[in-house]
Amino acid sequence: MSSTWRRAAVFSLFSLLAHRVVSDTAISPSFSYGTETVRGVNLGGWLVLEVRGSLDRCRPHPWITPSLFDNTGNDNIVDEWTFAELQDTATATSALQNHWNSWITEQDFADIAAAGLNHVRLPIGYWAFDVGPGEPYIQGQVPYLQNAVGWAGNYGLKVIVDLHGVPGSQNGFDNSGQRMNYPEWQSNSTNVQRTDAIVKTIASMFANNPQVVSIIEPINEPAGYDNNGNQMLDVVQQYYYDSYGNIRYSFGTSEESNTVVLLHDAFQSLSYWSGFETPSNWQGVAMDTHIYQMFSDSEVAYSDSQHISAACNYASTLSGFDLWLIVGEWSPAATDCATYLNGRGIGARYDGSYAGSSYVGSCDGLTGSASTFSSSYQTFLRQFWEAQTITFENNAQGWIQWTWKTESADEWSYQAGLANGWIPQNPTDLLYPNICG
Ligand SMILES: *[C@@H]1O[C@H](CO)[C@@H](O)[C@H](O)[C@H]1NC(C)=O
Repeated sequence: MSSTWRRAAVFSLFSLLAHRVVSDTAISPSFSYGTETVRGVNLGGWLVLEVRGSLDRCRPHPWITPSLFDNTGNDNIVDEWTFAELQDTATATSALQNHWNSWITEQDFADIAAAGLNHVRLPIGYWAFDVGPGEPYIQGQVPYLQNAVGWAGNYGLKVIVDLHGVPGSQNGFDNSGQRMNYPEWQSNSTNVQRTDAIVKTIASMFANNPQVVSIIEPINEPAGYDNNGNQMLDVVQQYYYDSYGNIRYSFGTSEESNTVVLLHDAFQSLSYWSGFETPSNWQGVAMDTHIYQMFSDSEVAYSDSQHISAACNYASTLSGFDLWLIVGEWSPAATDCATYLNGRGIGARYDGSYAGSSYVGSCDGLTGSASTFSSSYQTFLRQFWEAQTITFENNAQGWIQWTWKTESADEWSYQAGLANGWIPQNPTDLLYPNICG
């Protein structure tokens, strides 16, 4: 099918609904996006394991729980697919269940709320809902998702359910479930149809609970830079039209939900998305952009003050966008020093151990336990944290830090920042309110 045909099909579906859209009241989300400030954390490394692929581009995630992988004793286990494929199933299942039971508990939700935050973003993979023939994934995540939503509700937190991995992989990152050189989700319509069905399942699961699940994000980080004759971005755009229907009409009738649809920018500039699903014809659509400063040779070489001014300078990139805009991933970390951040067995640009990179400095004292962090480094983390939160609050709807906790990369951990003082107990208590001038 040509994308024009598919787009036309969706528009005709919506034209059927259009007269109802016009007469309905607009969406009433349980959080006042656009006026209230979003402040939150990602629950990374819980229901989706986080390793990182070796691709020298874009914005990976840290290896949040290296012990889960080290304990396998198998260096070929590099993602959740191989975690299930290359071990005895009972061993892999019990390791995952222990992890799901312990990595995040109700106490974390209590602590997140006590830290003055109002949102958590919760990554989950498609395999929690649908494992196809030949796919080795281990299931069992959905009850944890449901528990998490209950716990969030107990503490007044909003949940963004984030579909982090889709069939065929949308980016080839290990955190999509399967590390691969080139994503395949977009090149196979069965993959996309399976993903649509999963989004419908998630949306209907929480259709009656927009009070807690205020947002569904139908895909994380589709690799718009691997565009191959526009295929990826065409498929993503069509998928975003279909996701709107699947999330906003989750009752299976013409009744609209109060669930907001969060679209990742697919690594395109915001101007690429200008005019897309805007409030004149679409209600309850928000854009997610991810901002990191350590995944290119030039950024990793920035001085501390260059990192801070780069954060402040995002103001002009972010401001004035026509949808609600949330910086759904970012970090006070400024180097790629964290163990295996770039993938198991792959080094860091910062200390020159990454193929093709050149030495900026030693990673000693910049990652690992906060007890090894100098006071000047902790002061920098605080300043960089404030420069980013100020910029994301003043020029977008707010922020969701990557990530709540890590095993051994405290510079990435909100929890460690709170414990050691480079993140304030109340996120509005700033020491450097004028850091961006
Ligand atoms: C498309 O993906 C599905 C799984 O989602 C798979 O079963 C099928 O073989 C794929 N088709 C092609 C042509 O690769």
